[in-house]
Amino acid sequence: MMNAGAPPLSRRSFLEGLGGVGGTGLVLAGMSALGFGIEARAAAPPVLNGRAGKRIVVLGSGVAGLTSAYELRKAGYDVVLLEARSRVGGRSYTARRGTELTELGGEPQTCSFDEGLYINPGPWRIPYHHYGYLHYARTLGVPVELFNNDNDHSYIYYDKGSGPLARRAVRKQEVAADTRGYAAEMLAKQVNQGALDQAFSPGDKELFLDYLKSEGYLTDSDFRYVGTPGRGYDVNPGASLQPGTPSTPHAMSDLLHSRTWDTLKSVSDFDQQRTMFEPVGGMDRLPYAFARELGPVIHLQHVVEKISQNDQGVTIGYVDGQGQRGSVSGDYCVCAIPLSVLRGIDLQVSPEFRTAMDGVSYALVGKIGLQMKRRFWEEDHAIYGGHVYFDDADIGSISLPSTGWLGKKGVVLGYYQFFANAAKISALSLAERQAFATAAGQKVFAQYAENVETSFSIAWHRVPYNLGGWAQWSDDGRRDAYPKLVEPDGRIYLAGEHLSYITGWQEGAIESAWSQITKLHKRVNA
Ligand code: ALA
Repeated sequence: MMNAGAPPLSRRSFLEGLGGVGGTGLVLAGMSALGFGIEARAAAPPVLNGRAGKRIVVLGSGVAGLTSAYELRKAGYDVVLLEARSRVGGRSYTARRGTELTELGGEPQTCSFDEGLYINPGPWRIPYHHYGYLHYARTLGVPVELFNNDNDHSYIYYDKGSGPLARRAVRKQEVAADTRGYAAEMLAKQVNQGALDQAFSPGDKELFLDYLKSEGYLTDSDFRYVGTPGRGYDVNPGASLQPGTPSTPHAMSDLLHSRTWDTLKSVSDFDQQRTMFEPVGGMDRLPYAFARELGPVIHLQHVVEKISQNDQGVTIGYVDGQGQRGSVSGDYCVCAIPLSVLRGIDLQVSPEFRTAMDGVSYALVGKIGLQMKRRFWEEDHAIYGGHVYFDDADIGSISLPSTGWLGKKGVVLGYYQFFANAAKISALSLAERQAFATAAGQKVFAQYAENVETSFSIAWHRVPYNLGGWAQWSDDGRRDAYPKLVEPDGRIYLAGEHLSYITGWQEGAIESAWSQITKLHKRVNA
């Protein structure tokens, strides 16, 4: 508690005080608490007070376009939003019964999942620090549920390693426990032999050994790893005379050579946690909630052909769903069309801006949803959500649904590929993609092929109006091109995940929209 009469702490002196007592960790926590935004750049939409009597044409109804339109309208602007497709959401998309998709040069595809089943072929998981996304989910009434982003009881299937663990489905919990156990045991041996004495201050060594014992499930007496219930039992404990039959650790050399340990860090990154969020009912729920608020502001099936500007305003030429050409004018344009698509549109910007637009590439990404007759991964394998890990990059991973637990059927994400692997598989026919995914899953689950009923696949680089999964900036691109694109060219402001350091996430789109409309609003009020 503050002393009576003491001056109120300034932010700086408060943080200096925290640094004194708790080191950097406490300072960071304190900065976050004070709203310095260590975890995210922006946690809430900008407050756009002041004058707003202008007409803004927003292009694209992905999450960046919707956010821009929603906030600008809230601030009092006259907003028109043009969307090429007959739906909103862009990559924030859900495939369910009746969803149609024809990739460039591809066969028409209509999703035939059972009513109520779906797959999110684009964004599918939300970290806790995506404050913008969660803000809109909360305020627009889109309930979220937990997305299981890691499951110790799931399998690792590695083809390329050697030894008995190769080409065998191994529970991740075994790999996790055994690897930790052996590493801790070896380190404890070194510490006990005095090899690391110089690294310790007085009293540290005993504490470090305590930590290793706990970290590696080591024996009390002699710091050995002999297994742990956490890696699973051969026979689970039960009633009466069944205390359980402990399992035997894999040999350390088998673990090392299988390389299965490289899955263990998969959820310790900033943007990947063990549990994340997903909207109940599909990723497109948030775009549809925005659309509900925006109503007649949104004009679907308006394909932008030309974006021009002069000192007075902007004019957007489009073709509508009936094939009629038309145009809409405004004072400014917020263009949330991906650069991969915008590059093909007649756009009146400076030569430098245009060159900068070429400074980014787009990810090749492929996914497939497989409807399964029966939730055999739950019923027969006790795996509830999470991913099955492969070292075959053509598959990437199989992901099990975090919704519909204990239900009858479910949709499994049958592969998630990137780059050359995505290019290769995207060249297959729809039936071949399904067959490819089915064969991969069959390696892990004996019940896989017999349960596949139907599929919906996507190769984002071949999807009209997207032409790629997400923007990928090189260091050179970030240095030379990116700074030009985050500034307006005349009356045109770009927005989208590509103009953020959170590329490949809806949060990047949201925070980019916030950033760009704030600039626009300042200009209007200057
Ligand atoms: N944000 C994307 C994902 O979660 C890349 O897979």
